[in-house]
Amino acid sequence: MTRQDRPIALQSQPHTFNQKLPPVAVVKLLLSLINFLAQVRQKVTPPPLTLHEMVGTYTFVSNAIRVAARLGIADLLKDGPKRSEELAQAVQAHPQSLYRLLRALTNVGVFAQEKDGRFKLTPISKYLQTDTPGSMRSLVVMGSQEWHYESWGHLLTSVKSGKAPFEVLYGMNLFQYFEQNPEAGEIFNCAMTGVSAQSTAAVAAIYDFSRVTTIVDVGGGLGTLVATLLKQYPQMLGVLFDRPHVIAGARSFLETEGVAQRCEILSGDFFEAIPSGGDAYILQNIIHDWDDERATAILKCCRRAIAATGKLLLCEMVIPPDNRPYFGTVFDLEMQVLCGSGRERTASEFRALFQAAGFKLTRVIPTPSFSYVIEGVPV
Ligand SMILES: C[S@@+](CC[C@H](N)C(=O)[O-])C[C@H]1O[C@@H](n2cnc3c(N)ncnc32)[C@H](O)[C@@H]1O
Repeated sequence: MTRQDRPIALQSQPHTFNQKLPPVAVVKLLLSLINFLAQVRQKVTPPPLTLHEMVGTYTFVSNAIRVAARLGIADLLKDGPKRSEELAQAVQAHPQSLYRLLRALTNVGVFAQEKDGRFKLTPISKYLQTDTPGSMRSLVVMGSQEWHYESWGHLLTSVKSGKAPFEVLYGMNLFQYFEQNPEAGEIFNCAMTGVSAQSTAAVAAIYDFSRVTTIVDVGGGLGTLVATLLKQYPQMLGVLFDRPHVIAGARSFLETEGVAQRCEILSGDFFEAIPSGGDAYILQNIIHDWDDERATAILKCCRRAIAATGKLLLCEMVIPPDNRPYFGTVFDLEMQVLCGSGRERTASEFRALFQAAGFKLTRVIPTPSFSYVIEGVPV
């Protein structure tokens, strides 16, 4: 059996995302309540059951979701509920095994069932559909790619050695690998587009960009963030900057979004030079890919490029100092496995990076997503 039994049709275009987001205070309150209830549940559940459930939830369920995503089940349910036999025929699966997969995923809320047994979408599986704006299908599929799960398979060695299994296995960093393996790179770029749709919408809702004349999106991928901002601020100009093989796919997206006229697309290496002339430099999910030395090198390039009165804006997760429940603390392990010394950081770690690169950290602004806006000014 081959792992890639049939090509996976992923989203061909990124999307900007206009979902209405609740205020940060409401999100914070709800999260505290959910965390409190989770703690109560854990207190009253026998510890071995909790452990069993944790392992089951994180391993079994995530694998099951990946299989459903690869098979494209959510796309097949687009027009309404279907029987599992019908779905099995459509995706050439073993009927009883597909039924068990869907039953398990229904049990955790990914799908739902009609009284007559037919399976249907839930708000969660809607995001497994290829064309849903902000689709997470590519992200989910990314977890079933050999380079991803082989790296995770070596977490133990990584914890012992401090090295990134990805870099040990493939002898290069993640982004060099994507450059040499375009199919893997495409899945990663689409995955990032899905992930960043949420944080982009949250950042655009929370931060006031009205005084920005030219925004430079450094390592902007296919351009979701810059397109969202240009649509929201019609007076703004944009520059999308990334590696040549990545931005090759950006033009048609910016055209579809009606912002191509106001956005320059430039390629290069952010360790060497970043386009100058911007009064805001925004880096979403960039700094966490790198160790302090390389992160500082990127920020120093921004420092050389930025206008004297400009703003540096990082959109990143920020680890709370008291280790209260926060997704970023767990997600940090993904950085350890894939990106070597890349890491999620605390606010004081960001402050030190800013200082080393000639910036002063001015604000750390929460958003109604996992991301924060970390604002700095040149000194
Ligand atoms: C984690 S992705 C984030 C993409 C985008 N900012 C987002 O949030 O969706 C990191 C991005 O950095 C880009 N990148 C990596 N190394 C780079 C380099 N040396 N110069 C410019 N861009 C680079 C990658 O191509 C990728 O698009």
